[in-house]
Amino acid sequence: MTRLINQQFKLAARPVGMVKREDFSYEEAPVADPQDGEVLVKTLYLSLDPAMRGWMNAGKSYIRPVEIGEIMRAGGVGEVIASRNPRFQAGDFVSGTLGVQSYAVSNGKDLVKVDPKLAPLPKYLNVLGMPGMTAYFGLLDIGQPKPGETVVVSAATGAVGQIAGQIAKIKGCKAVGIAGGADKCAYAVKEFGYDSCIDYKRGPIYPGLAQSCPDGVDVYFDNVGGEILDAVLTRIRMKARIVICGAVSQYNNTTPVQGPKNYLSLLVNRARMEGMVVFDWAARYGEASLQMGQWMAEGKLKSLEDIVDGLETFPETLLKLFSGENFGKLILRVA
Ligand SMILES: NC(=O)c1ccc[n+]([C@@H]2O[C@H](COP(=O)([O-])OP(=O)(O)OC[C@H]3O[C@@H](n4cnc5c(N)ncnc54)[C@H](OP(=O)(O)O)[C@@H]3O)[C@@H](O)[C@H]2O)c1
Repeated sequence: MTRLINQQFKLAARPVGMVKREDFSYEEAPVADPQDGEVLVKTLYLSLDPAMRGWMNAGKSYIRPVEIGEIMRAGGVGEVIASRNPRFQAGDFVSGTLGVQSYAVSNGKDLVKVDPKLAPLPKYLNVLGMPGMTAYFGLLDIGQPKPGETVVVSAATGAVGQIAGQIAKIKGCKAVGIAGGADKCAYAVKEFGYDSCIDYKRGPIYPGLAQSCPDGVDVYFDNVGGEILDAVLTRIRMKARIVICGAVSQYNNTTPVQGPKNYLSLLVNRARMEGMVVFDWAARYGEASLQMGQWMAEGKLKSLEDIVDGLETFPETLLKLFSGENFGKLILRVA
């Protein structure tokens, strides 16, 4: 039988500033046979996430860094094509940390079975995957929105943002998005039901915030940090909640992270700002999937993906997250 060839992207260098193709090495190697307890998975889709930029850095974080020479870490969905693990059989579809490669050998510990009859496979990397869980628990547990409140979401149309904005509407809030460009803002309102959307690429967002949030901001779901966080801090209401989900504007900095200059607004307004890491809610993912599945069935929640073809495009496709070219959850179709 012809031996399968694995195409892999490994981390070749720790990036300085923006990621580039040379930070990865592309290699081909024969696919390893699964040993006792292992499964062989053919990668179908890979999730591209801003967090990947952080995983490429050395140093302590919420997860260990990817080492030089190691296959670049990535979540994905694939099909089991051989199994020596009693939990799985060939033909099962699974989601888990597959890495940027066309085949993955796994001990199965982090693999979860997914059902393409219940939802198309890319949805398991979006609303039914890590971004959906992040939006659900970040907004509901930390943001605690109440009907009639104003919720602002940055990177409003991205994977996490699109779900956070829609859940805010489901909960009876006014949802205001912040996104890059007129087209994205129109997309935010049309596809995800935001009441309005502020285009930060047009200039300072203060006037847009004043217009869209005349009574101030009760919940800010922050995906970007930097100047946008600073601007929103100037408009928070008493007892506002700021969810620190991410700070994508800062991930490729060559200078230190820009901290919030206007943090004293938290004091004045008796407000709080709280960081979150989605893995802390792992025991409750089932609950969120059930609820979001129901909202989808009722037509209240949608999840849109931006799917790019070809494992070989990985480095350039990843960059779309930082230029803002992705419309919806960025996914790489591998096979
Ligand atoms: N804490 C957690 O557990 C957790 C889990 C998952 C994700 N996250 C975080 O959630 C955030 C969103 O992730 P995602 O997967 O949903 O990505 P995404 O929003 O689908 O894609 C990234 C978006 O960020 C925006 N962006 C990029 N550079 C920017 C800049 N310099 N200034 C302002 N906006 C910029 C762009 O949108 P525009 O074109 O609209 O600017 C881009 O489309 C990230 O910060 C990520 O790290 C956190």
